[in-house]
Amino acid sequence: MRLLVTGGAGFIGSNFILYWVKNHPEDQIVNFDALTYAGNLENLSSIENNPNYKFVKGNIVQSNEVDAVMAGVDTVVHFAAESHVDRSILGPQPFVLSNVLGTQVLLDVARKYSVKKFHHISTDEVFGELELGDPNKFNERTNYNPRSPYAASKAGSDHLVRSCFHTYNLPITITNCSNNFGPYQFPEKIIPLAITNLLEGKKIPIYGDGLYVRDWLYVEDHVRAIEAVLERGKVGETYLVGGLTEDIPNIEVARKIVRLLGKSDDDIEFVKDRPGHDRRYAVDWSKIKNDLGWEPQHDFDAWLEKTVEWYKKNQSWWRHVKGGEYQKYYEKQYQKS
Ligand code: NAD
Ligand code: DAU
Repeated sequence: MRLLVTGGAGFIGSNFILYWVKNHPEDQIVNFDALTYAGNLENLSSIENNPNYKFVKGNIVQSNEVDAVMAGVDTVVHFAAESHVDRSILGPQPFVLSNVLGTQVLLDVARKYSVKKFHHISTDEVFGELELGDPNKFNERTNYNPRSPYAASKAGSDHLVRSCFHTYNLPITITNCSNNFGPYQFPEKIIPLAITNLLEGKKIPIYGDGLYVRDWLYVEDHVRAIEAVLERGKVGETYLVGGLTEDIPNIEVARKIVRLLGKSDDDIEFVKDRPGHDRRYAVDWSKIKNDLGWEPQHDFDAWLEKTVEWYKKNQSWWRHVKGGEYQKYYEKQYQKS
């Protein structure tokens, strides 16, 4: 099989490629990535000389660049996106460009080459927020209600992908996943931000009252879910993917990290809240379990500890990433109001 992976130099995309090369060594992979601030080829240095792996630098909004890599591809696995909610609040336009227009360009070229499968990676944020204490979780029938520019752009991309199935019979599948954590996550997201800040002697910034809730999934479980959909998923279907956590508030996640690093609760500071901050996410993953036999395997506490260890051992990776552009972003995002 020949796969075109978009956004393979980012967090989840690089974990996917490393997993796929190890578990499907006969397949050929082209990693197509624009190398934005979030793309990092260091993530893939262990396989850069593998004859079945090739990196091509390019932007999904450029039809000619996409056309040049799509010929001969069986399966598209589409990760490429602007992915950080806070950056979407500071400036929505790059999100519309990459996530909406970029997805449409990929769909058009995939149709031209009649690819056998187009798998779109999306997010549970398209469903909006749940209330604290609400027994309901998001499922495949939940109405879309995105509340940030990021979530709205991902919702737009989901609709475009689905419309391509209904209108043109393009063989698509979609996964909407909850919050991932694990190695190679860019330290703008809360878990790597918290770990690396503490390692630098800084505090963890917690938005608002800290009682916001996310559904945490170890990245390898997400990658295995995508594998299950690629291998056994039904064309045209959407599958929700979530983890094993039950409503852990952000402040508790921060306290766990503080304890793992031998710091104190004084190393946590409450800061100005995120505008439009979604209160709670929780995902019902029974469809993918019942239909495809997938379920999460990585316990949050054990794998949070391993993730902390990874960031302790790979300081050159994140210290390098936290230079330059990151500093400007951090100052703007966390400036005192
Ligand atoms: P990331 O920001 O770490 O990586 C995104 C990658 O896409 C980078 O390598 C970047 O260079 C590339 N990219 C961005 N715009 C591009 C463009 N126009 N052309 C080509 N490449 C481009 O993101 P991530 O956290 O790995 O997320 C990957 C996908 O998974 C995204 O679609 C995101 O919406 C989705 N997702 C993420 C999570 C999560 O918790 N991180 C959860 C659910 C869904
Ligand atoms: O739910 C899936 C989504 O998870 C993905 O689609 C997104 O790409 C990914 O970025 C993530 O979005 P979140 O906004 O949930 O992740 P983030 O790590 O930015 O924030 C997690 C929670 O922590 C959220 O409630 C906001 C809070 N937070 C975040 C940061 C960066 C803080 O309290 N302080 C912070 O500094």
